[in-house]
Amino acid sequence: MVVLSSAAAVRDILELKAGLTGERPPNHVTSHVISRGGHTLWMSAKKSSLVKSKIYSHVLTSASTDSWLPVVEAESVAVLWNVMQKPDCFFNEMLRYAGSITRSHTYGKRVPTWEATDATGFNLEGYSKASHEIIHMSEPGATPPVDIFPFLLKLPRFMQSWRGHAEQLGETMREYSSILWEDLENRMKNGHTNGAWLEKAYQQYKKGNIDLEEDLLKYQGSIVLEAGLDTTASALQTILLASVLHPEAVANAQAEIDTVTNGTERLPSLSDIDQLPFCKAFVLEAMRWMPTAPSAVPHRNSEEIIYKSMIIPKDSTIIADVWNILHDVELFDRPDEFRPERYIQHKNGLKAGVDLPFRNNYSFGAGKRVCSGERMASNQLHELFFKMLWAFDFGQKNGPPPVEYTAGFIKAPKPFEASIRIRSPAHAVALKAAYDAEADYFERFEP
Ligand code: HEM
Repeated sequence: MVVLSSAAAVRDILELKAGLTGERPPNHVTSHVISRGGHTLWMSAKKSSLVKSKIYSHVLTSASTDSWLPVVEAESVAVLWNVMQKPDCFFNEMLRYAGSITRSHTYGKRVPTWEATDATGFNLEGYSKASHEIIHMSEPGATPPVDIFPFLLKLPRFMQSWRGHAEQLGETMREYSSILWEDLENRMKNGHTNGAWLEKAYQQYKKGNIDLEEDLLKYQGSIVLEAGLDTTASALQTILLASVLHPEAVANAQAEIDTVTNGTERLPSLSDIDQLPFCKAFVLEAMRWMPTAPSAVPHRNSEEIIYKSMIIPKDSTIIADVWNILHDVELFDRPDEFRPERYIQHKNGLKAGVDLPFRNNYSFGAGKRVCSGERMASNQLHELFFKMLWAFDFGQKNGPPPVEYTAGFIKAPKPFEASIRIRSPAHAVALKAAYDAEADYFERFEP
C-alpha cells in the first residue's frame, strides 16, 4: 500500500498520471456481494467511465448542475422553515436536505420528512441507514480480508458470518432502487415530467439508445443518491458544529450577510458569494478542519510507476492522505484550530511564505475518479449555510458540543446538541414569505 501524504505527491501520481491510477483496489464485498457489479464507486476505471458517460456525466457538469439551483434554493428555505418550527431537528435536516435535492434532481420527487415513509414507499431514514452500512462494509476490517485471501470466499457459508448481512443490505438497496425507479416509470407513463435527469435516461433506454442492462441502469440513480447523501450532509453537520463552537467567526460571517441583504429585506443566496468572502472562507475552513473523506477512496495503478526513484509496483493500493495534507504544520498555521481568516489571508489558506501548487478540494479526491458531484455539493453547502447564517443564532446547550466523529471512509460528527433559534420576529416574517413563495416547487416535486 502507498500512502500519499503531500499535495505534490497527489498531484504527481493521482493527477498527472491519472490514466494509470484510475483503478480501484478489489472490494469484493461491496462490488460483488452487495451491489452485484452495479456500484460505480467500485467499478473498474473503464466500466465506471462508460456507465457515467452513458447515463449521468453530462448532468453533473457545472452548467447542468447550476440549472438546478432553484431546487437547492427551495430546499434550503424548507430547512430554515423546519428548523424554525422544530429547532432540535437541525442535525437530521442536513440529511433530509441533501437527500431531497439529490432525489429531486435524479427522480423528480422531493423528501419532505426525514423519518416518514412517503406515498411511493420511500423512506430516507431507512435508505440512509442502509447506505451507511454499505460504506461501513466496504472498509478494511469490517469483514474478513477476502480481497487479500480469496480462499475465504470458498469457506462453507456458515463460516462466512458477514455474508448474510451483506446480501441482505444488497437486497434492501435493490428494493429501494426499484421503488424509486417504478415511481419514475409510473410518472413518465402518466406524462408527468419535471426535468429530473433520469427521465431522459429512461426515455433513451426505452428507445434502445442506452446499451446497458435494465438492472444496472435502475441502480445508477440510487448510487448517485447514495453518493450525494451522507457526504454532503456530513460536511453541513461539520459546518454547523463549527458554527456552534465559534461564535466570533459566526458574528463576522453574519455581519457580512446582513450587509448584503440589508437585514431582513431579502434572504441571501449563492449568487451573493462574491460579496461574502468570510462566509466562503468559513466553508473552506470547515472542510479543511474536519474533511468528510479524510483518506478519500483508494485508487490502484494499472502499471508500475517510478516516482522520485521509488517503485510503485503495478496493482498497488494508493491512498491520498487528505487529513495529513490538510493538517500539515509546514503548510498551515496552527492547523488544528478552526480559523476561517486563513482563507482571507491566502486563497488556499496556506502560511505566509509557503508557495506551492495546492488546491482546496482534496476532500473530493483526485485524478480520474475525482468526485463527480463536487459542484452539486458546493452549491448545496453555500446556499444553505448563507441562509442559515441569515436566519439563526447558533448557541450552545449544556456547554460546547464534543468534537466527536464517526469512524470510516466518510466521517460525520456524532449527533450533538445546539440551540439554533430564529434571530428576530422580523426574520420569521421574511422566512414565512420566502417559504410560501416556494409552494410551486414543493407541489411539483411532492411524492
Ligand atoms: C461534500 C460532499 C461530497 C464529498 C466530500 C464527496 C467525496 C467523494 C470522494 C472522496 C470520492 C472518491 C474520489 C476519488 O476516488 O479520488 C467521490 C466519488 C464520487 N462522488 Fe462524491 N462527494 C460529495 C458529494 C457528492 C455528490 C453531491 C454527488 C452526486 C450528486 C457525488 C457523486 C460521486 C460519484 C458518482 C463518485 C464516483 C466517482 C468514481 O468512482 O468514478 N458526490 N466523492
